[in-house]
Amino acid sequence: MRNNSVKVFAPASIGNVSCGFDVLGLAVQAPGDEVLLSLNNSKEVTIKEIIGDEGRLPLEANKNTAGVAVIEYLKSIGVNQGVEITLYKNLPLGSGMGSSAASGVAAVVAINHLMGALLKREELLPFAIEAERIACGSAHADNAAPSLLGGLILVRQNHPLDIVTIPTPKELVCVLVHPQIEVKTKDARSVLKATITLKDGITQWANTAALVAGMMKEDYELIGRSLVDVVAEPLRADLIPGFRKVKEVAIQNGALGCGISGSGPSIFCLCRGVENAKRAGDTIQQEFNAMNLNSEIYISEVNRKGAYVVK
Ligand code: HSE
Repeated sequence: MRNNSVKVFAPASIGNVSCGFDVLGLAVQAPGDEVLLSLNNSKEVTIKEIIGDEGRLPLEANKNTAGVAVIEYLKSIGVNQGVEITLYKNLPLGSGMGSSAASGVAAVVAINHLMGALLKREELLPFAIEAERIACGSAHADNAAPSLLGGLILVRQNHPLDIVTIPTPKELVCVLVHPQIEVKTKDARSVLKATITLKDGITQWANTAALVAGMMKEDYELIGRSLVDVVAEPLRADLIPGFRKVKEVAIQNGALGCGISGSGPSIFCLCRGVENAKRAGDTIQQEFNAMNLNSEIYISEVNRKGAYVVK
């Protein structure tokens, strides 16, 4: 007999990974959002409850990333199914940790599970991207893809979707530090320019290609040298108090490289080994403390499996 209820976890992710603006994303082990989905006879998709958002997210299913992902999925398979959603919002809003993507991913993995896994994992991505468009006004896939599939994902093209999983070295450890301020993705995108210079383009694609090569060759030094973003970071740095100093001290204290996670304000570092990761994370937190800014640190290996069914 088919279950009519399931809970799914979808992890946070590091969008952009510095040079890969809108095209690279990396999944971490935790934190993440959870979605509990139950089928019913109502023929409607509804959100029963959101726990952990302090009442800030819309309860209308067509305005919420979890709801939109389920609605779009059901539309595409042509099933008029009643669904009730409970969202455990563990990821902070406006954090740059792929919060909106994780809710949509967890919801679409859950509905696909309840529908007997009609679609393959990768085929679920368009629904999570559509949810992202509703939440952020932009259909970027660099958070949804790694949260769904795990690992480091390159989104070569959105239409038709073409994504590539890049292998990552065994000892690579991710650090996320989330200072307790909020930056909305929409706002962080509005500071960007519509065009870049050829010189910046050359620097950016050289670093993106070198980062991918560094990952595949397990060349930690090359990974570190390539975590350079001349497109978005210079324009977004001022949205994060002390960003430039924080980055400098992180690199002096164990980070191979450091940048803004997604659209910020979270900061990420990639490190070789847990000891270096702890050192870099502590250093960043101390810098934020000195500015009277509380922060939370998350240290984890690369999450290579993505969203999963909890029960
Ligand atoms: N690539 C997106 C951006 C990620 O930087 O705006 C948003 O989390």
